[in-house]
Amino acid sequence: MLVDLSSHPELVYNIRAEAVSVVGKEGWSRAGLYQLKLMDSALKESQRLAPNRLLSMGLIAQGDMDLSDGLRIPRGTTLMVSAHHMWDPATYPDPRRYDGYRFPKLRQTSGQEGQHQLVSSTPDHMGIGYGKHACPGRFFAAAQIKAALCNILLKYGLEYRGGQSPSVWSQGIHLFLDPTSRIHVRRRKEEINLSPVSDYADLVECKDPAGLIPLMLATKLRYTDAVDLLLSNIQ
Ligand code: HEM
Repeated sequence: MLVDLSSHPELVYNIRAEAVSVVGKEGWSRAGLYQLKLMDSALKESQRLAPNRLLSMGLIAQGDMDLSDGLRIPRGTTLMVSAHHMWDPATYPDPRRYDGYRFPKLRQTSGQEGQHQLVSSTPDHMGIGYGKHACPGRFFAAAQIKAALCNILLKYGLEYRGGQSPSVWSQGIHLFLDPTSRIHVRRRKEEINLSPVSDYADLVECKDPAGLIPLMLATKLRYTDAVDLLLSNIQ
């Protein structure tokens, strides 16, 4: 993300202007962070080009399955779903190019106004997974990342100083940032006073209505399994 931003100064200029306007008016509220639409798009575009993995939705078949095309999946098989739609030119024109403005443009399509946000989970962008096991921490993560990025971009100038090409490397199904990438960082005077994020309880609240994420992290359970465990203890 920082490599993408530091190599697109004009985009950073516009994201800063958006942050000054939104955070200056709204502070660190979730409603305010929702209005950081260009920042949201730039983050989602970095994730589109460099998700953690080339595959998503890791599952283990609990029983033998016969699919409609005749493929048999034996019990115990590990399955993952390809994330190749994230680079499909039918959905993303010029798919290998970083375009920080890509998602607001897609949102202009009729019927898609509320889609293509960093927290949206779709088959076309599985950076946070898809379906019932999509990341439950994504609302929390998006809010924290946006608040951090406001601080970074308003307080520091970033300039990409090169590295090897391409800047994202793959090993197996995993993607990594080129470790030789260099960014020159210079302190700048922020346009607005940024009060500490911790002042705003609203932001650290997670979309985890049953309060299950700590249980899942401790026990490595999936969300639905954690719900089952919780319910079995109540009954
Ligand atoms: C930028 C930050 C994050 C990214 C990119 C991310 C990405 C993902 C992805 C792709 C999955 C689905 C994995 C799969 O289908 O194989 C996932 C699941 C999950 N994430 Fe995140 N995550 C992030 C932050 C968080 C945070 C902050 C939390 C907790 C506070 C969290 C908790 C979980 C849990 C518990 C699951 C498993 C859900 C289930 O299996 O039902 N994640 N995450």
